[in-house]
Amino acid sequence: MGKDVSRGRDPSERVFELTGCFGARLDEEREAELQEFYGQCRDYFELETGEPPGPNEAKSLLTSLPRGKGHEDKFVIGLFDAPGHMVGVLDVIRDYPVQGDWYLGLLLLGSSSRGRHLGERVYRRLEEWVRAESGNAIHLIVQEQNPGALRFWKRMGFQERGMGKQMRKGRERVFLRMTRELEPAPEPSGTFIKSWLAAWRKARDRGANRARR
Ligand SMILES: CC(C)(COP(=O)(O)OP(=O)(O)OC[C@H]1O[C@@H](n2cnc3c(N)ncnc32)[C@H](O)[C@@H]1OP(=O)(O)O)[C@@H](O)C(=O)NCCC(=O)NCCS
Repeated sequence: MGKDVSRGRDPSERVFELTGCFGARLDEEREAELQEFYGQCRDYFELETGEPPGPNEAKSLLTSLPRGKGHEDKFVIGLFDAPGHMVGVLDVIRDYPVQGDWYLGLLLLGSSSRGRHLGERVYRRLEEWVRAESGNAIHLIVQEQNPGALRFWKRMGFQERGMGKQMRKGRERVFLRMTRELEPAPEPSGTFIKSWLAAWRKARDRGANRARR
């Protein structure tokens, strides 16, 4: 076990809470904590790049920005279990590549936290936030050699939007572009009896809550 990097965490930093997990924004002061977490995710780095995480991997996530974007639009959110140990990380850019669209750069859970729907709960919470900010769509890319992630994102409602190639650690990798459009839930139009409309809205919200669970 490494040192207890969770000690001294200020709970007011939390950006969201889920049962048994909370998200807190990370800055450069948390670089060592994130780098230590990456040690639990060797399999992911090896799958994506053919190599274990490099020594500057955490720094790179915390500081890198797409061209034309500033840090005010980049959110690196650490995911912590109830005692405050990092179990995952989420990286998202607001208004990228265009105003109103969001780009999900990374959702990564530690290997022992996968396969229990935590990823789904975290993603649903992110989507709620993006919708609340009037976001139109969420984009991401999935490496061709990560079919588990591809299944996961399809289940979250993402659709394939084409392919691309990039050089990663000296190797050419194929990736899929995926997008989830966030249309507002359709509202009935025309004149409706008030009590019917209220019942319709209630049923719709119940459906949305069920889908979120
Ligand atoms: C992808 C990920 C965020 C999904 O979160 P999760 O909480 O494990 O997902 P859920 O429990 O809701 O769903 C499980 C699904 O996740 C995917 N998955 C990917 N790696 C997995 C793993 N090591 N263990 C279990 N599920 C995994 C599978 O699609 C699995 O569904 P399947 O039964 O069809 O194989 C998480 O597994 C993860 O961090 N994986 C490694 C990093 C990664 O690939 N991130 C995506 C980059 S685009």
